[in-house]
Amino acid sequence: NHPTKEEASKYVASLIINRINTFKPNQNRKFVLCLPTGSTPLLVYKELARRCEGGEISFEHVITINLDEYVGLSSDHPQSYYQFMEENFDIPSNQFHLLPGLPIPPHTTPQESCASYESLITSLGGINLLFMGIGENGHIAFNEPCSSFRGRTKVVKLNEDTRRVNARFFDDPSEVPTHALSMGIGTILDSHEIVVLAIGQKKAEAVRKAMEDGVNHLCPASALQSHENVIFVTDDEASQNL
Ligand code: GLP
Repeated sequence: NHPTKEEASKYVASLIINRINTFKPNQNRKFVLCLPTGSTPLLVYKELARRCEGGEISFEHVITINLDEYVGLSSDHPQSYYQFMEENFDIPSNQFHLLPGLPIPPHTTPQESCASYESLITSLGGINLLFMGIGENGHIAFNEPCSSFRGRTKVVKLNEDTRRVNARFFDDPSEVPTHALSMGIGTILDSHEIVVLAIGQKKAEAVRKAMEDGVNHLCPASALQSHENVIFVTDDEASQNL
C-alpha cells in the first residue's frame, strides 16, 4: 500500500521498468507486457513516458498487448480502447496489439478475432507481465462476476453496472457498447507475473473481496489468489477495508 495514487502509480511504473530492464531479450523473444485502459493506469503511463524520455527505459524490446476492447467500435472511434492507447502510450504500431472492435480481414467475426489473439499470445511465448486495474464489481479486464476462471479470450456481455460506470467516457449512456472482447481469466492467469493497481475509495470493497473473501465466482479478481506471482498495489483509499 502507498498513501496516494501518485505514489502507488510510481511504484507500478518502477516495477514495470525493473522487469523490462532485467529481461534478456533475444531474436526470438521480446518482453510481452499486457496493459489496461481506464482511469487507473493514466499516472503509470505518464510516469513511464517521463522515465522513457529520461533514458531510464526503452521499449525497443517490448511488445504490448491489451486486455480488452469494445465490440463494434472502430479503431478511430474516440471511445475505443485503441484510441485510448494511441493517446496515452507511445510505442511503435508494430509492437502494439489490441483486440479489434471490428473484425479485421481475413477475420469476419469477433470470435475469430479472439481465437487469433490467443494464437498471437502463444506465438509471442506468453505474457511476461500483466498490469491491470479492477472494476468496482471485482471484474478484471471485462470478465464480469460468474465468468469462468478458465475462460480464454472471448466475446462477453457487459453488466449494466459496468456500462453505467463506463458511461462517463461517452456522450450518452446509450452509446456504451453492450459487448466487449476480453482476455479470459484463464488467459490472464497464464501470465508469468500480474500486478493489479487499485486507487480510490470506490475500489475498496472490490479489493477486500478479491483479497479476503476467498476464491469465488462473484468476484472475478479473487481468481488471482490461485496465482503464484501476483501483487496488488493500492492507495490508502482503496485499501481502507482491508
Ligand atoms: C474497465 C476495463 C477494466 C478496468 C476497469 C476499471 O471496465 N475493462 O480493465 O480495470 O474498467 O476502470 P477504471 O480504471 O477507470 O476504474
